[in-house]
Amino acid sequence: MLHLCSTTRTAWLARALAHLDEILVDHAHCEKKAASTAVSLLFRYPERTELLGPLARLAREELEHFEQVVEHLQARGIRLARQRPSPYASELLAAVRDDEPARLLDTLLCMALIEARSCERLQLLAESVPDTGLAGLFRGLLASEARHHGAYVALAERVASPPEVRERLAALARHEAAVLERAPDMPRLHT
Ligand SMILES: [Fe+2]
Ligand SMILES: [Fe+2]
Repeated sequence: MLHLCSTTRTAWLARALAHLDEILVDHAHCEKKAASTAVSLLFRYPERTELLGPLARLAREELEHFEQVVEHLQARGIRLARQRPSPYASELLAAVRDDEPARLLDTLLCMALIEARSCERLQLLAESVPDTGLAGLFRGLLASEARHHGAYVALAERVASPPEVRERLAALARHEAAVLERAPDMPRLHT
């Protein structure tokens, strides 16, 4: 159960397959960013002892994913160059409320949605890339991202009541779908 409000269009997949090298570089940056966000939450909420272990595990796993994607980049002779990021994450996180604990709840749920969208799209890529090595990489990662989605929702339920989490997750999922709807036509995991 990924709690997404929209399904990725075939046009996204066609563009991704036509620019697979750029998608892979973006994917590496996304894994690194996912690790960095989990670490930044450890810095921002040191008093939330119930979050520390799960967030540290998430950060470690995302860094392992980063290593795996970098290995594939190197095997294909692609450099991990800087890239203009998709506006997706910053526009999604713009919906995070300012006051606590709403800010923490919203951040955890936005992370849950990013994981869900990554999972959905890695599935599409895994089913479509001609390279069996890459398909295997994507299949392995999408299973982790599905688990990470669940982990972030479970963390949100340590911060707020289940009905509040459900309601806010649904609202943020609608916002996430709207952000993707107006995303620019660039080959990225989240456009
Ligand atoms: Fe990951
Ligand atoms: Fe993840």
